[in-house]
Amino acid sequence: MRLHDTQLDPTWDLNKRRNDPDLLESLIGIADLSTAARAAIVRRAVGYVQAVRSGARPGLMEAFLAEYGLSSDEGVALMCLAEALLRIPDARTIDALIDDKIAGSDWSEHLGQSGSLLVNSSTLGLLLAGQVLSARTNSGADAVADTLQGLARRMGTPAIRAAVSTVIKQMGRQFVLGESIQAAMARAAREEAQGFTFSYDMLGEAALTAADADRFRTAYQHAIAAIAVRCKAGAVADNPGISIKLSALHPRYEVAQADRVQAELVPVVVDLARRAAAAGMGLNIDAEEADRLGLSLAVIRAVLADPALSGWDGFGVVVQGYGRRAGDVIDGLYAMAVALDRRLMVRLVKGAYWDTEIKHAQVEGLDGYPVFTQKPASDVSFIALSRRLLGMTDRLYPQFATHNAHSVAAILEMAAAVGTNHYEFQRLHGMGEALYRHLVASEGVRCRVYAPVGAHRELLAYLVRRLLENGANSSFVNQIVDDRIAPEDIVACPFDRLAGLRRRQSPPIPLAPDLFQPERPNARGWDLSDVTTLADIDARRRRPDWLTVEPLLAPDAVADEEALAALSTPIQNPATGAAIGEVRAATTAEIDGALAAARPWAAATSERAAVLNRVADLYEQHFDQAFSLLAAEAGKTLPDAVAELREAVDFLRYYAARAEALSEDTAPRGTYVCISPWNFPLAIFTGQIAAALAGGNAVLAKPAEATAALAAWATRLMHEAGVPLSALQLLPGEGSRVGAQLTSDPRIHGVAFTGSTATARRIQAAMAGANACAPGTPLIAETGGLNAMIVDSTALPEQAIKDILTSAFQSAGQRCSALRCLYVQEDMAEGFI
Ligand code: FAD
Ligand code: 2OP
Repeated sequence: MRLHDTQLDPTWDLNKRRNDPDLLESLIGIADLSTAARAAIVRRAVGYVQAVRSGARPGLMEAFLAEYGLSSDEGVALMCLAEALLRIPDARTIDALIDDKIAGSDWSEHLGQSGSLLVNSSTLGLLLAGQVLSARTNSGADAVADTLQGLARRMGTPAIRAAVSTVIKQMGRQFVLGESIQAAMARAAREEAQGFTFSYDMLGEAALTAADADRFRTAYQHAIAAIAVRCKAGAVADNPGISIKLSALHPRYEVAQADRVQAELVPVVVDLARRAAAAGMGLNIDAEEADRLGLSLAVIRAVLADPALSGWDGFGVVVQGYGRRAGDVIDGLYAMAVALDRRLMVRLVKGAYWDTEIKHAQVEGLDGYPVFTQKPASDVSFIALSRRLLGMTDRLYPQFATHNAHSVAAILEMAAAVGTNHYEFQRLHGMGEALYRHLVASEGVRCRVYAPVGAHRELLAYLVRRLLENGANSSFVNQIVDDRIAPEDIVACPFDRLAGLRRRQSPPIPLAPDLFQPERPNARGWDLSDVTTLADIDARRRRPDWLTVEPLLAPDAVADEEALAALSTPIQNPATGAAIGEVRAATTAEIDGALAAARPWAAATSERAAVLNRVADLYEQHFDQAFSLLAAEAGKTLPDAVAELREAVDFLRYYAARAEALSEDTAPRGTYVCISPWNFPLAIFTGQIAAALAGGNAVLAKPAEATAALAAWATRLMHEAGVPLSALQLLPGEGSRVGAQLTSDPRIHGVAFTGSTATARRIQAAMAGANACAPGTPLIAETGGLNAMIVDSTALPEQAIKDILTSAFQSAGQRCSALRCLYVQEDMAEGFI
């Protein structure tokens, strides 16, 4: 069976992580800005910064973030509070969270620093709360603060709770136009009167269940109906519109479910698009994580092909300029519009998921980033792609979404040079207000406001993105209100900045393969959202039709002919129950022979390290066999198989590095018995053995009964890489017989075991038995147990569910029946804690 049978066009995914050194050069070429043009842009942008600084007050968020950037502890504390506080239903937990986040921070440093009264009074509230909570005396504060502090202390915790909640609510409200679409539209009226238009975004994303997806779809339908009433203009571009997120509309919006997504999500989006088209409004598909780009484009193309949408100019797509594929995407959208004879709206943004993309690529061990890693590169890309869009206005209506005065100035200069005004600007509600008030009033630009609508519980993911984005000290919004930074520096030419970074050879963010260097290379990753990678795995995954496993013994260990047939058991595919092979367990005589033939690995430490590294390379080289076996014998899904192989490879390289660090005269302990479990049949099997071999010991490996074929595969590769047979022998068979015989033999010098506590106790008893191991023989036991995760109300439930599932099924190798959830209510908690 194919891993995926998608209608995805692989060209969308090509070059997903390309590290094309010419890409930026070609973007600089596309921007085509002379030195004079670049200087004119900077001059224009300086004017905007001055206008913003001298004119209207900065928005609350701008002031707040200028004071509490994410580089300060207080900024981080506020972000944690903002993320969690309003979700908590009970006073006691609210107080505990405030105590935890506020008491330790030094708010007094921020007192009176901001130009905003609201920020200063919020700071005062936080300061008082912090001081009351930590019961410190406010020796440095003035008399007013002392008085207020005394007051706050007298009023007690409810007052502190109310004050801090107000600050946090204020932060959330800053980004949300209204809790309902009606309230939001009413609040929009004032800015509409000033010439702004709106695109409403019903907060919600990453639906985890079909019920969530239904709820979000209904919210979009209601919103379209409500906004339709306001769509009075003939042109879509003059009417308010709606922005939607595909991840809100399907619980499995992922490449692995591409067929389901096509079958189930496309009709939902077609329905919403038809409703928007009927009302004459724009409907915009927001851009989300890079992994979903190809999938989103497949959905977009299928929706756009709907004949009922012919003649409607309001279908909008967001393109992220920080993405290395952004230029290809724009070209693809243009080609799509031509092929289907449509006109599209294209909102160009820099991109809101930068931190996530970087972390994700690192965690998955991928060999490139899908996004640029230097801020000026994203700025240059944004400008180049703006130029590209300004040349495609016969089919595309550009919507430039930025709060950066330099980016705005570049677009205005380029548009004037091209002689078009067929485009609009966009800003997020709560950001860039002063800049666009100025631009609308003095330059008559068109500007649409992206306006989130919804309750606090749906806001959090969005809020965290805004706080991360604006709290970064490279952010334009963060800098514009900071008078200490000269306007010329804030809007310095990104082309020059980029050239400067190159001249200085500024170290790039390390790529995932180099994360553990100089010690060791990271294990290779596989991008399971990449169509080409999936097709490659698909084409290569093979395993023999019938697996046969036998003990792998040193030549002088005696082979035993006695009752061999009786020791054979079938290997079963745990998913289907089908027999896929046969394993022949070690006989009593073979175990005895293996014990006699075992010899410590007398190679130099550097040689042992080199061999272990070679094993790692062989594992990676034969990934196809590993993935097939992990699926067939251990029932692992592909993501789990990838994680398992990567962990095994990393164990090998990690212990190779440990071997290198050993002094040559460190004597091995002797012969180790390694007994591994079924849930990590490759990783733990490999880790135990690699550790023992790194120290120069001989190993007798007893794999789990259910996963002997994987163990045999790994053992053969270890031998192929150069581990002598006398240093590593494989003895498959039942724990009660093979394990018991091995662990009670006086010739062993240590046992490494992973499994249940009960078995560990049995091994301990066997080792301590009469005529068994010498006193002091180590038993390294990693035993199972019950993992408890306590989820309190500060957690985002969706995230908690993901964490539980990930830790249970991916980290702990849980089988379904073993996962239990205990829900303890707040008022019952007393009895438990
Ligand atoms: P700037 O401060 O000039 O740029 C900040 C941006 O630079 C960051 O957001 C990031 O993209 C990039 N950046 C930061 N550090 C680095 C680095 N080290 N290397 C490379 N790049 C870096 N975003 C989406 O992803 N999907 C959407 O659908 C979407 N819709 C939007 C709609 C509107 C109307 C607006 C205004 C924004 C939307 N955004 C969307 C969010 C948008 O991506 C951010 O607001 C935008 O990136 C901020 O850029 P800026 O030009 O305003 O600010
Ligand atoms: C976001 O949700 C605005 O779509 C952008 O962050």
